[in-house]
Amino acid sequence: MSKAKNPIGIFDSGIGGLTVARAVKNILPNESIIYFGDIAHLPYGDKSASAIQAYSIKITDIFLKSHCKVILIACNSASAAAYELVREYVGSKAKVFNVIDPVINYIRENYVDISVGLIGTKQTVGSNVYKKKIEDLGNNVHFKSLATPLLVPMIEEGFINGRISNDIINEYLSNTNLQEIQALILGCTHYPLIKDKVDEFYQGKVDVLDTSEIVAASLKAYLEYNLLLNKNDNADHQFLVSDYTSDFEELTRRFFGEKVKLEKYPLWE
Ligand code: DGL
Repeated sequence: MSKAKNPIGIFDSGIGGLTVARAVKNILPNESIIYFGDIAHLPYGDKSASAIQAYSIKITDIFLKSHCKVILIACNSASAAAYELVREYVGSKAKVFNVIDPVINYIRENYVDISVGLIGTKQTVGSNVYKKKIEDLGNNVHFKSLATPLLVPMIEEGFINGRISNDIINEYLSNTNLQEIQALILGCTHYPLIKDKVDEFYQGKVDVLDTSEIVAASLKAYLEYNLLLNKNDNADHQFLVSDYTSDFEELTRRFFGEKVKLEKYPLWE
């Protein structure tokens, strides 16, 4: 039986991954999404790889029970720490996507002989996953990176368009680690919300890559190619969280573009 009508499972450490879910919903409006935000364990950006792997497998089990056709790891930190393990665990039951490989493919297709920068959490940058994958491309793309841990709490607290956020963004982007780049990967779920500010900083001289859009486009191409697109327009979304607070529910407005109802679904009882 075709899996085309089955949902797409998307997970993140919290509600930041809703930027990815939003990009998926915009480009694939017929697809049903089950979103899981592991609020009880956030932030993943400061956690060990083994802790993130354990959470990711638990969440994957929820998606497998719901017969998801695709499991999309929306969190960069979990993509860096747990993708290989989740893929092995899932086997042929579903296609597993991360948010790193589509960006690497985009770089392969669009750039040669340039310097590309990455900003992300300590986990993402420290894992060196982007570095290894970009070096493996062999197209003379030089890689530079900087962990920018203040950006996640800054964005969650709503500091996006003012003096404080401008100072923090300018300070990070002026860092010597990121000099003379021609493209910058926004390697974190939260960063699409400050893309305009990053663009303003570079004044068009650097391509700022919104990974959520690149990932959604790659997911669409996969579904099309494998005849897995849902042709019915009865999409039904579910938003599960391992811990609930009304503050997080309120924050969904910022990340998803509309407020959604969060359902508590503890990972461990
Ligand atoms: N979702 C995380 C990421 O994309 C950022 C938030 C966190 O550290 O949990 O890396």
